[in-house]
Amino acid sequence: MNQWVNRRDLFVIVGASGDLASRKLLPALYRLSHDVPADKRFRILGVATDSERNDEAFRQKILKEADELAGVKIDQKWLDETLFYQSIGHGGPDEYHALAARVAALEKSQQLSGNRVFYLALPPTIFPLSITRLGEAGLNQSDGWTRLVIEKPFGRDAESAEALNRLVHKYFEEKQVYRIDHYLGKETVQNLLVFRFANSLFEPLWNRDRVESVEIVVAESLGIEHRGRYYDTAGALRDMIQNHLTQLLTLTAMEPPASFEADAIQHEKVKVLKSIRPIGPGDVVFGQYARGEIDGKPVPSYRQEPDVAPDSHTETFVAMRLRISNWRWQGVPFYLRTGKRLPSRVSRILVNFRCPPVSLFQPFACSSLHPNALMITIQPDEGFDVQFEVKTPGLPFRVVTQNLHFRYSEAFEPSPEAYETLLLDVLLGDATQFVRDDWVEASWRLYTPILETPPTIALYPAGNWGPKEAERLSASPLLGNAAAS
Ligand code: BG6
Repeated sequence: MNQWVNRRDLFVIVGASGDLASRKLLPALYRLSHDVPADKRFRILGVATDSERNDEAFRQKILKEADELAGVKIDQKWLDETLFYQSIGHGGPDEYHALAARVAALEKSQQLSGNRVFYLALPPTIFPLSITRLGEAGLNQSDGWTRLVIEKPFGRDAESAEALNRLVHKYFEEKQVYRIDHYLGKETVQNLLVFRFANSLFEPLWNRDRVESVEIVVAESLGIEHRGRYYDTAGALRDMIQNHLTQLLTLTAMEPPASFEADAIQHEKVKVLKSIRPIGPGDVVFGQYARGEIDGKPVPSYRQEPDVAPDSHTETFVAMRLRISNWRWQGVPFYLRTGKRLPSRVSRILVNFRCPPVSLFQPFACSSLHPNALMITIQPDEGFDVQFEVKTPGLPFRVVTQNLHFRYSEAFEPSPEAYETLLLDVLLGDATQFVRDDWVEASWRLYTPILETPPTIALYPAGNWGPKEAERLSASPLLGNAAAS
């Protein structure tokens, strides 16, 4: 696919000394460039505050960190040819004008196309300043195209997201803007559209007549690692629900788009958000992990993590019930659930179908915990399972649940990393798997009332599926069933 990149563009990473650049972006760009003929390979300009650093020092830093943080051994020759460094000091107007001059100089010396990507790999508090400075320095346009990539979180609530969109639009047109949600780069997430709209098998069942409930679970066994400073001001609703889980929700619930064009797809996704009823206090449970065990090893409570307030009320777990009030989904609950320090790492969408109207096999079949279900596993062990009931051979007469399954790993070579896919899309100008301005605003509007009056936090021991209080916000009576089954 990479042969489609047939010009030598410039990729500018603003915030290039951070974790994201060494851990994800540069390894992804490195892999991406492999299939591109050498004379068409893009160049990368890393931009950060350190004014002592030069091209060579930056290449050495990336060489070391990509190996340490991502296990990727980047070739020195590739670095020498591809990667450059520019300081923006404290980010004043002069420094951004110097950046503009460096960009122009590189385009000349490296014979580049004039197409530019600016990737803001920055703490969100710095987005507004950086966007303003880029615009003021004239870096919002070029002789070719200019695209702006913005990492999540895009805003903290409805008001701040709208303000950020206004600022972005002051300097950039919406078609230049690529808001990243790395979940959209995962193969299994991209495949949701193909699964739904390239097959006729499920679409007739995909509605309130046949579906009893839908569960979307993103469980992590990791804690917050070294990200306490960020996480304690964010929490699971902002960090996971507003973006990743809501993307999965809109892809699962949307109507067929008029075409496979970015705008047609975005349009249907936004319609879903606009049809969701306000979320009531009884529809949400917040949890926070207490001390416990993961894989038999003791782990500290959230409040004991570095850079977390000892009396923090930040949620590390959210369970909620959403109701989509439209013709397709009226009356079907959508359960969302995410948490850190849960027993295992699994991301899954479970579509639970209704029981047959009459069960001939009571108490065997539909009195069991598993009516027919479609389980889409986003990660790990990516694939699909269809659960159905069968009779066990012989006597006594018993009905059990079996699976038809498909696994990506059995059918295909390993997929590229999400960032690789998304960065290629940016270079190709395909905005299908990015977040449009109205989606991000509609999503924040949905959750802002909860952020303003959050529910009380229920504690759960690390290594459990969440607080007991959340059990009622699940279609499976056993907490975590959707994740664990
Ligand atoms: C990030 C969140 O966006 O996604 C993290 O900030 C989370 O807190 C991560 O751990 C999960 O991503 P993945 O791809 O590992 O499921």
